[in-house]
Amino acid sequence: MPDVLIAKKSASRDIASSLHPYTNLKLHESQGPLVISEGDGVFVTDEDGKRYIEGLAGLWCVSLGFSERRLVEAAYRQMLKLPSYHTFSHKAHPVGIELAEKLLSIAPVPMSKVFFVNSGSEANDTVVKLVWYYNNALGRPKKKKILSRIKSYHGVTVASASLTGLPNNHRDFDLPIANIFHVDCPHWYRFGQPGESEEAFATRLAQNLEQRILSEGPETVAAMIGEPLMGAGGVLLPPATYWEKIQAVLKKYDVLLISDEVICGFHRTGNAWGATTYGMRPDMITCAKALSSGYMPIGAVMISDEIYSALVKESEKIGVFAHGFTYSGHPVTSAVALETLKIYDEIDIQSHVRRVAPRMQERLHSFADHPLVGETRGIGLVGAVELVADKSTKAPFEPSAGVGAFLSKRCHHHGLISRPIVDTIALCPPLIINEQEIDLMFDRFSMALDDTLEFIRTR
Ligand SMILES: Cc1ncc(COP(=O)(O)O)c(C=O)c1O
Repeated sequence: MPDVLIAKKSASRDIASSLHPYTNLKLHESQGPLVISEGDGVFVTDEDGKRYIEGLAGLWCVSLGFSERRLVEAAYRQMLKLPSYHTFSHKAHPVGIELAEKLLSIAPVPMSKVFFVNSGSEANDTVVKLVWYYNNALGRPKKKKILSRIKSYHGVTVASASLTGLPNNHRDFDLPIANIFHVDCPHWYRFGQPGESEEAFATRLAQNLEQRILSEGPETVAAMIGEPLMGAGGVLLPPATYWEKIQAVLKKYDVLLISDEVICGFHRTGNAWGATTYGMRPDMITCAKALSSGYMPIGAVMISDEIYSALVKESEKIGVFAHGFTYSGHPVTSAVALETLKIYDEIDIQSHVRRVAPRMQERLHSFADHPLVGETRGIGLVGAVELVADKSTKAPFEPSAGVGAFLSKRCHHHGLISRPIVDTIALCPPLIINEQEIDLMFDRFSMALDDTLEFIRTR
């Protein structure tokens, strides 16, 4: 059968059979999927043979690109040896032990134990339960509220979607659940007041946080979760001094800090952890995605010794720490994660990121003067371009205009996969990208942006 017919057939089979995450379901019925069938390096190929730069590393995760054979072989070797096992009720396996040790050895601050999960959402869901269990162990049953932030992204399970601060993750899903509150979004470009410096903005947000803790009652506020920089909310970098000031408030009221490193972790910002880049000293850390270069579903929660001691006490009282997933620390996912971390060390991915990041940032910021662009922002190998209807007033486009979606489609046309977050386009390529590929990515983006300007001018 000719390739075109096969492609058409698989699109209609997909429409007939699959419910897609994060998709306009009605539109999908007429538009169908882009069917990606192969990957190599920073590129993926659709089933018609068209090649794209994966400008978002899949979903911010495929750090080593789409053809790292060592990860395939690590999975195969582990499959032959012990293809499946669990870590419930005092069981362990060598590769899980080694991975936990490795994670503790690279943690940004001293951590005591690692709990394995299968995704970022499960990691953050686990954290919610640990915070509650911890405060029960300490005899503080009222200290249960968890603060998150508007525009944050922490996942989609009932608890992690509640932490997420994006309206569509709550709307008609009857979320958020009780005891989760959202405080200010630290996006200076959008929420800074006229004439307010980044530092003054950070001071105001820390003061607002303190007011919120006081009005809720410090004895009821248990923790705050934050991505070092907000990814899926639009690549929002914290303003200068933000984390320093926020942490001072949390410390004052004995509120735990949880760093969600699901995007920032494993060198994305030029350091192994976003917490290091922004001077955070978290009590718990969640990570996933680049932990296995996205090749296997695995995530982890790291906890401090203080938290661990409390969990021990409570589980002794109850007789069990009754939390865990069948695939927590699955041997094959663990083997792939361990190999990923070995590769990061062997190829010194951190130095590579630091070497090519200036090119990424230079090309990204070169769009700042474009008539459609309100703000360009980024660090390391992550960045975003925010489109606006009016540069001087920062007025956004009407959502119904679909400008971000149009730009993203033009990116596809020119051979680049990127992600529209309303009218912000995020770029987060595989960490192995080189300078020529960075140029190619932005050359393609530039053509798509000019098409979008044309579309707006002639509409
Ligand atoms: C910061 C952050 N936390 C949590 C998640 C949820 O991870 P998952 O989709 O693996 O459940 C994501 C996903 O993009 C994320 O970016």
